[in-house]
Formats: sequence, C-alpha cells, structure tokens
Amino acid sequence: MAHIEETPTMTTAQQPLHSGFGAASTAEDVIKGIDLTGKVAIVTGGYSGIGLETSRILRAAGAEVVVPARDPERARAALKETDGVAVEPMDLIDPASVDALAERFLASGRPLHILVNSAGIMATPPTRDARGYEAQFATNHLGHFRLVARLWPALVAAHGARVVSVSSRGIRFSPVVFEDLHFEHRAYDPFLAYGQSKTANALFAVELDRRGRAEGVRAFAVHPGQIIDTGLAKHLSEEALRAAGVLDEEGRPVRDPARQQKTVPQGAATGVWCATNPRLDGLGGVYCENCDISPVVTAGNEAEWRARPGLPGVLPYAVDPEAAARLWEVSERLTA
Ligand SMILES: NC(=O)c1ccc[n+]([C@@H]2O[C@H](COP(=O)([O-])OP(=O)(O)OC[C@H]3O[C@@H](n4cnc5c(N)ncnc54)[C@H](OP(=O)(O)O)[C@@H]3O)[C@@H](O)[C@H]2O)c1
Repeated sequence: MAHIEETPTMTTAQQPLHSGFGAASTAEDVIKGIDLTGKVAIVTGGYSGIGLETSRILRAAGAEVVVPARDPERARAALKETDGVAVEPMDLIDPASVDALAERFLASGRPLHILVNSAGIMATPPTRDARGYEAQFATNHLGHFRLVARLWPALVAAHGARVVSVSSRGIRFSPVVFEDLHFEHRAYDPFLAYGQSKTANALFAVELDRRGRAEGVRAFAVHPGQIIDTGLAKHLSEEALRAAGVLDEEGRPVRDPARQQKTVPQGAATGVWCATNPRLDGLGGVYCENCDISPVVTAGNEAEWRARPGLPGVLPYAVDPEAAARLWEVSERLTA
C-alpha cells in the first residue's frame, strides 16, 4: 500500500471527550439529527449482529449502503426489510474476492465516505487460509487491511472519509505477537488469536489515521461492548457463555450496560458515533467505547480494569504508534 503516504501531523488525545452519550445509548440515539443523504457507506459484516444494525441505521439516515457478504443470499434475506442496501459478494479471507469487490466499487466512480469494518470471527478452531495464515488474523485484520488499500482512491475522493475498525475489549487477551503471527511456534489458542486480531484492528486505526489524515481519511477503533445475541459466539458452548456471565441460569442474555453487556442497537452505537458524529471532525486514530474516546489503562489501574468489564479503557499496546507502524509494514508484506 505504498501509495498511502506517511503524513506527520497532529494526533488526537486518547482521552474521553464527554460526548453526552454513554453505554446505554443506541445507534438510533447517536444518529439523531444527522443527514447522510448523498453519502456512500460500506459495512463489512453488515448482514449480521452489530453490522446489520449499523447498515440499517446508516441507510435510515439517508446513506447509500453497500454490504459485502461471503453469503450474498443470506445477506439479502437479512436485509430484506432495509430498502436500498446493495449486497456484493466478498470473502475477507479470499484476497481475489476483496480485490474484485474494490474494483467493482471503484469502477462505479463513487466516493466512499464511510467504511465500517464490522465483519469478524471469534475463537475459531485452528484454521489456516490458502496462504497458511491464521484465520482470525487473516479475516479480521488482513482482509480489512487489503480492503482499505484497494478502496483508497474512493476514500480520498470523499474529501472527509471515516473508517471504523471494529475492535474489542478482547485486546486484553494478546498484543500483536510479531514473532509468531500465525501460531507456527506456539500452541494455538482461540482467544489469544482473537485478541491478537482485535489488537491489530485497533493498531490499524492508529496508523491508517496517521497516513490518511492529510488526505481527509480519518480512522477510529471501536469496542462495541459485549453483545451476546449476534453470530459471533457460535464457536463457544452455552456452558462457557454461562460461566462467563453473559447468559443467565436460564440461558437468557444478561443485559447490563454498566458492565457493557449491551443489546445490538447499543452495541452498534459507538461505531455509528465514530462514523458520523460532527464532534469527531478533525480527530482520529483513537480507540472508542460507550460512544466516547476511551481513557488509556495505566499500570496503576490495569488489574482493576481487567477485573471490571464495565470499566472503559484501552491497553497502551493497542494504541502504540510504533507497533501500529510495524504492523502496517508487516501487513503490506503479507498482502502483497
Ligand atoms: N458481539 C460482541 O460481543 C462483540 C464484542 C466485541 C467486538 N465485537 C466485534 O464486532 C464485530 C461484529 O460482530 P458481531 O457480534 O456482530 O458478530 P456476527 O453477528 O457474527 O457478525 C459478523 C459478520 O462478519 C461476517 N464475516 C465473518 N467472516 C467473514 C469473511 N471471511 N468475509 C466476509 N464477512 C465475514 C459474518 O458473515 P457470516 O455470517 O457469513 O459468517 C457476519 O456477517 C466483529 O468484528 C467482532 O469482533 C463483537
């Protein structure tokens, strides 16, 4: 992605803005009064869970929405009540299909104002793609890295684009382990792999923003909260979910925004806020949750942060500019 040049300019402080929204805000709350007529958005994973709600809300605010899907038929069925969303085939783990999606989009001549990278997989059994790359890193990070690279001219053409990288509090499971990205020299662990990929999502926003801001492309990473009624936890047993406190004794989802245990509309809120809120004009490269910029977790409060899932915060390694720059270079090589 050599054409995305480095641009040394001001960085945004990783600290709360006191946005006026919070953990219980919904995507509908944060978009109130915002008109997206004439704007074009792509939402990966926009046919399930948080992504589906994001597509619906952006479309309702007037945006033209494109949803790339690895299963277009299922996507059309999921979106049948949302008029005017275009579904396009794309599988993030298949580089040729990412390139093809981007080529079709660029050929349409449209600018791209909003790109929400919501697609993701979690805690999969050990899987490698055709290149031998670990599947969660390849899907969640490298697929989106490639997509942004290929769509770059359309993002620049928007003269004020925003890219939202849907990360997770799962960053706490692992930094990016540059020495062994694909679990070739250590035992595979589904959560270490998920954590690594979600830290990569956060770091991607840092470096993308640094490179993009001179051309008006700003990037944000998001922790949506814990939303149990999406497709994400399909590789976990009900027993594991109950033990984690996300399902109650009867197997019903536990809802408690104070612990970031959210509904789907609440889960979609921070990404929509990052994609559209005018208070974020001129800002970027930060990790957000509960519709605000997160504070940085310090050595002094890390133990408390780890113990209290409701406490907002981002670990320093997930917003470290040096790690972000290194990840960018590695990702360019891995997607070349
Ligand atoms: N739910 C939570 O508690 C939570 C917490 C923190 C972060 N997140 C993040 O939020 C994002 C959305 O998750 P969700 O909870 O809404 O889960 P979800 O309902 O499973 O949605 C994920 C979407 O990604 C798509 N996808 C997966 N692999 C793909 C690939 N190779 N190519 C194209 N699309 C692919 C899925 O399509 P298929 O249906 O075809 O698989 C699905 O549409 C994820 O990035 C996740 O890591 C979620």
